[in-house]
Parts: sequence; structure tokens; C-alpha cells
Amino acid sequence: PQSPTNQLIKLHQDAAKLYAHILMNTEMGQPALDYLHHRGLTDQTISDYGLGFAPDRQLLKPFFDERQIDYQMLRHSGLFIENQDGDLRDRFVNRIMYPIRNQSGQEIAFSGRILKQAPDQPKYLNSPETEIFNKRRVLFNFDLARGAVRKQGNLILFEGFMDVMSAHQSGVDNGVASMGTSLTEEQIYAIQRITGQVFVCYDGDTPGQKATQRALTILRDNSSLKLGVIQMPEGLDPDEYRQQYGEQKLADALESARETPVAFEMRYLKTQYDVATDAGRLQYLDEILAILATVRSPVEQDVYLTQLADTFELDKTSLRQQLAMVKPVPR
Ligand code: UTP
Ligand code: MN
Ligand code: MN
Ligand code: MN
Ligand code: MN
Repeated sequence: PQSPTNQLIKLHQDAAKLYAHILMNTEMGQPALDYLHHRGLTDQTISDYGLGFAPDRQLLKPFFDERQIDYQMLRHSGLFIENQDGDLRDRFVNRIMYPIRNQSGQEIAFSGRILKQAPDQPKYLNSPETEIFNKRRVLFNFDLARGAVRKQGNLILFEGFMDVMSAHQSGVDNGVASMGTSLTEEQIYAIQRITGQVFVCYDGDTPGQKATQRALTILRDNSSLKLGVIQMPEGLDPDEYRQQYGEQKLADALESARETPVAFEMRYLKTQYDVATDAGRLQYLDEILAILATVRSPVEQDVYLTQLADTFELDKTSLRQQLAMVKPVPR
């Protein structure tokens, strides 16, 4: 007999197959398939990620009822919503379905994207936490990325599923994404087991930049990973960049738009302080020097001190003196 865990996984595998069938082979799935095609995803990518569609009607409930799947099993699967009478209904309706897999490549949850944004509905709806789905642990695409990460010696952290798939379609396979939340210690631990270097490639818009700053801080505080940032131009996210400029350009940008965390933070924090005033400038410099104090390479420190001195017409010697007074954060 199968363990409850295996049975829950089996439900998700069956659901994923059914959703994929609806997307690829039915009239009901056609608008969703067109939508994905218009976003420039190929059938190969759609199949690589097992994308599907949950139609605007009950699908899983009748399917599993017919197979006499245990009510308690269905209840705990996260695939249904329960009303006051204990009746179950499909949780995902009228959404493009992205299967979420565990590190062994088994389906354990879904994220469903709305086709047309409606004001009262979230763009992405995720499975709730279940016995087999722990949001804090999961990184989207970790199972497929692992080999490429080991080979290339680094991992790229994206903001969204679409960005991971866009990179994959562009031949860049070492990308993962967290589940729309900030990075957890569990995720960092999983990353550290397979690589020593991470590039953060979040959206080029303001929330993405803010999230980059937060991710760098979390990574710095919780790991000894070597860090870098990949900066998407023009406020775009990696998937929008591919849609606009094509796969080769995205692959190029993921290679060439790399910068050090300090370079990113010098740029980003400048937008957070009013550096036109003395007070704002001093606060900015305080924060940058605190970050510089964590940089181990004296040469790297010197590069940034030179930049700061140039930018603010300051004496490099006094900057260096001030830096020496900042206590390096113990790690
Ligand atoms: P984005 O708003 O950047 O979405 O949120 P996206 O990845 O670019 O999606 P597309 O291109 O519009 O399809 C980044 C991530 O935040 C999570 C998702 O994981 C998403 O990929 N998110 C976003 C949610 O969980 N719920 C939401 O309602 C929105
Ligand atoms: Mn089409
Ligand atoms: Mn975003
Ligand atoms: Mn985005
Ligand atoms: Mn996007």
C-alpha cells in the first residue's frame, strides 16, 4: 500500500496530467494556449514545464470521485476548497496551471495564473501548505536546474516562474524562483548544497529593485555565498525582456549585465536618500561604508572608495578613515 505522502503526490501527478491535457488537446484550453503562444512560449517549453489549464468548471472533483479517491485524502490535498457542509470544489478554476515540483521532480503543488487580470482576484493563486508542500522549502525549478548549476558553478535567482521559463527557453538552465515570497533560510541551505555563487536577477521595476536589496541582505546574513546582481534594463523583467528583444539577447544580458552587490547597492541606495542634501548624503555614505566594511578584498574596497570620492567630491583619505571606524559585521 502507498504511504499518504505518495498518495498525495500521485493526486498531483494525475491532476497535472489532466490540466496539461485540457491545455494542449481541448477547445476549453485553446484561449490559454493562445495566451502562452502570444507570450512567445514554445510548445517545447510548455511541455518541459508541464503547463496546463484549469477550465471554468469542476474538473478534478468529478475525475477523482469517479476513481473513488478517499474524501480525507482529497481534503488534505490542497486541490479543493471546502464549504461549510464539507463539500469539496476545485480550488483552481479558469487559470493557467504551473506545477510546482519538489527536489526529486515530483509534483507537490500548483500555482495558477489568471488569464485576464480581474480587480478582485490575485494574479497568481498558489496551493496552500500541505503535508507535501512547504513554501519555505520549495524553489521553483530546483530539480531541473541542479545539473546546470553544478556545471556552471552558479545559480540565478529570478522573481517569477515566467522568468525561469524564459531563461530556460533561451538556453539558460541554472535559474530558480522562490514562491513570490522573500528568500528563506531553508531555500538558502538548499542552494548552498549545490553551489557557492548566486546571482540575483529580479525585475527591473521598483518593487524588484527593493526585493533585490532585501535578498542580498538575507543572503549575506545567512550564507557565505558569493553574490552578484544581474540588472534588467528599462524596468523590465527577464520574461518581458525576452518578449521584446528575443532569446539570444536575454541569454546575453544574463551573462553581461552582471555587477557586484556593492555596485548595485551604491546605485540603489542613492535613490533612497536625498543625496542633494548634506544630511541625506551622510546617511547614504554611512550605509555604503557599512556595506563596504563587509567586503574582504582591499582592492575591491579601494575601487568603491575611489568612486565615492569622485561622485561626492570627497577626500578618499577621510573616507578610508571613516571606513576603518566601521566595525565589520561578524559572519
Ligand atoms: P510578478 O508580478 O513580477 O509576476 O510577481 P511575473 O512573474 O512577472 O508574472 P507574469 O509575467 O505577469 O505572468 C513575481 C512573482 O510573485 C508571485 C509569483 O510567484 C510571481 O511569479 N506572485 C505575484 C504571487 O504569488 N501572487 C500574485 O498575485 C502576484
Ligand atoms: Mn496559438
Ligand atoms: Mn515583479
Ligand atoms: Mn515580473
Ligand atoms: Mn512577468
